[in-house]
Amino acid sequence: SNKKLLVLPGDGIGPEVMREAVRVMGWLEQNRAVRFDISEDLVGGASIDVHGVPIRDEVIAAARAADAVLFGSVGGPKWADVAFENRPEVAILRLRSELELFANLRPATVLDPLVGASTLKPEIVRGLDIMIVRETVGGVYFGEPRGIETLADGSQRGVNTEVYSTHEIERVARVAFELARKRQNRVCSVEKCNVMESGLLWRQVVTRLGRAEYPDVELSHMLADNCAMQLVRNPRQFDVIVTGNLFGDLLSDLASMLTGSLGMLPSATLGTADADGRRPALYEPIHGSAPDIAGTGKANPLAQIASLAMLLRYSLGLDDEAALIERACTNVLASGLRTPDIMSEGGTPVGTSGMGDAVLAE
Ligand code: NAI
Ligand code: MG
Repeated sequence: SNKKLLVLPGDGIGPEVMREAVRVMGWLEQNRAVRFDISEDLVGGASIDVHGVPIRDEVIAAARAADAVLFGSVGGPKWADVAFENRPEVAILRLRSELELFANLRPATVLDPLVGASTLKPEIVRGLDIMIVRETVGGVYFGEPRGIETLADGSQRGVNTEVYSTHEIERVARVAFELARKRQNRVCSVEKCNVMESGLLWRQVVTRLGRAEYPDVELSHMLADNCAMQLVRNPRQFDVIVTGNLFGDLLSDLASMLTGSLGMLPSATLGTADADGRRPALYEPIHGSAPDIAGTGKANPLAQIASLAMLLRYSLGLDDEAALIERACTNVLASGLRTPDIMSEGGTPVGTSGMGDAVLAE
């Protein structure tokens, strides 16, 4: 049966890089036994301009009904004066919260040809392949009590609380264990159980779940500050890392820079599977709308194309097609084609559509 995909290009370079990903879908339809039922809608500033809101309820409903959502990016200086609760970024925040997309998958993969473009020592990052699973709807960003309080003496204090329940820890840990089984079968769980109660529960719950349901997966634990150090010192020791919202935010940004470019990294955000096994999921590049280069035709489309590859693998079970796309991206880079963001000595300059052409040719 046809796979229902919702395509939300968004703002800035979003539509420019999405065009290349959609061309790859078209290639798959023509050359492989895959049929998509694609619908497209406005989100972010583009939706504000037409509908007055960053995302409509119909679009949320369509996202829920789809097998997966491919998202571009939203935001830009044009909407700087829009009310805070109506800003373009609310589109992605509402999708994450209303579909309860609790697990954010952030791969940090180094494609060998790019090592030269990285500012890091090649011997430390060559062949790097880490998957960070970050909990995204709980933890200190959402815990109660929170707020800025005024005390009796007139001074103020800002309060946030880290709260994690057994259920929240188990469901994100399950995602990590399942992923590990398809990779190198190793999970490193990261918290600060030495100073945080929520971290202590986190470690206990992950340990118990691992023993009970995933005894075949090698589980280790690491304190978050040490993990930051280890990611820089010897990142190849990791396979899957699972961690909470705050530490995951920092560690995934850190890990992404081991690879040398924002323009090549995809991500996935997954929810809970329903009775039919259908799991809400959203795929997007980690970069934003890059207003500084929007409209110039220079944006690197590889992160958007790699996000499509993740969608094929994790939502549609099309592992071969995903691998085919990833291999095409690797080969194109190996041939020396470079958008300006990854330009290195001896590289062949190419723009957004040129990079897309090359991936299709591969
Ligand atoms: P950004 O990721 O858009 O850009 C940072 C720098 O990286 C810029 O110099 C940009 O030109 C470059 N860059 C990013 N993607 C690139 C690509 N594919 N190819 C070549 N170069 C690329 O982050 P920034 O500037 O902080 O944010 C710009 C807007 O994007 C803001 O409105 C922000 O809120 C929004 N944003 C949206 C996200 C989303 O929709 N999920 C995520 C991050 C930011
Ligand atoms: Mg971040």
